[in-house]
Amino acid sequence: MNYLVTGGSGFIGSHLVEQLLKKGHSVINIDNFDDFYNYQIKIKNTLASIDKNSAFEFRDKETDIKNLVSISKSENYTLYYQDIRDKKGLEDIFKNHQIDLIIHLAALAGVRPSIERPLEYEEVNVRGTMNLWELCNDFTIKKFVCASSSSVYGNNEKVPFAETDNVDNPISPYAATKKCGEILGHVYHQLYNLDMIQLRFFTVYGPRQRPDLAIHKFTRLISENQEIPFYGDGTTARDYTYVDDIIDGITKSIHYLENNSDIYEIINLGESQVIDLNEMVSTIEKALGKSAIRKNLPMQPGDVQKTNADITKAKTLIGYKPDTNFQNGIKKFVEWFLRK
Ligand SMILES: NC(=O)c1ccc[n+]([C@@H]2O[C@H](COP(=O)([O-])OP(=O)(O)OC[C@H]3O[C@@H](n4cnc5c(N)ncnc54)[C@H](O)[C@@H]3O)[C@@H](O)[C@H]2O)c1
Repeated sequence: MNYLVTGGSGFIGSHLVEQLLKKGHSVINIDNFDDFYNYQIKIKNTLASIDKNSAFEFRDKETDIKNLVSISKSENYTLYYQDIRDKKGLEDIFKNHQIDLIIHLAALAGVRPSIERPLEYEEVNVRGTMNLWELCNDFTIKKFVCASSSSVYGNNEKVPFAETDNVDNPISPYAATKKCGEILGHVYHQLYNLDMIQLRFFTVYGPRQRPDLAIHKFTRLISENQEIPFYGDGTTARDYTYVDDIIDGITKSIHYLENNSDIYEIINLGESQVIDLNEMVSTIEKALGKSAIRKNLPMQPGDVQKTNADITKAKTLIGYKPDTNFQNGIKKFVEWFLRK
């Protein structure tokens, strides 16, 4: 099959590309290597995803990405250095390929920066996503997997969070753009028969995790004997999901879409194991064999108190089977971190 992956040089995207290529599929990756974090990390992600781990000589961003585009090209893989906000640029790509299904992961992620740059989040996460759906119409592409987020639940009081819960109360611009994507996605499904699964990922971690996310940031700071910013009293809690389990959920969603029609589903992908901040830090300390120096700070605006996924629907509908508990996942993450 020919899959178009957006954001295929990011954390989750690069794992997905790697998995799809291993299974013998063709992949087109659209990524603009945005400056949310260092582009060199995304170059390394891309090289790892296509199994080209040879030394890469870094010069400057434009030259490096141009080189990457040319060395990565193969019969089964094409990388486009392209912004999803540019519909004309996307259209030229769609003209060149027969696309069976799109997995849309490109986004401005991150809750806190969305409070600083809400308009940019809206442009990328809403307008950019709509550009893809418009092109699905123009090029008769009928299958679409879209990354949503557990952040749409806001400070939901009821746990675990189920897809049927009311999500009208997001508490960050990022969460609102993801909710907006779910609503507009339904419109494209209803009006144009676009089969779609919206996946609400619950805090994803593992090798290549974004450096801005707490597990990666804390691991780096603890290993460098620096203070970690410890927000709140340590009772905030997350349902952390190991990246291999997320990839399992995405590939099973693809399979479900390919074998069914008239689909619009929203599905939680979590681990269903809730870990509070104190336990998260102590698990990293144990894996690193080092103690953290905590700098206590107040809770951050936009941060939710707790996330906890009800994954009954994912299990019954698509056969999702997460199997990495937090302790094992952190061990694997720390091994990767110390090796890189
Ligand atoms: N990592 C998590 O814990 C988590 C949780 C919930 C939802 N998500 C969602 O999953 C998806 C992937 O997240 P990730 O953690 O891999 O993030 P990431 O930042 O590592 O990956 C996103 C990729 O999209 C690309 N991108 C950003 N803006 C773009 C644009 N305008 N045009 C083209 N490409 C663009 C970036 O360069 C990056 O490579 C995102 O949609 C995110 O919102 C992630």
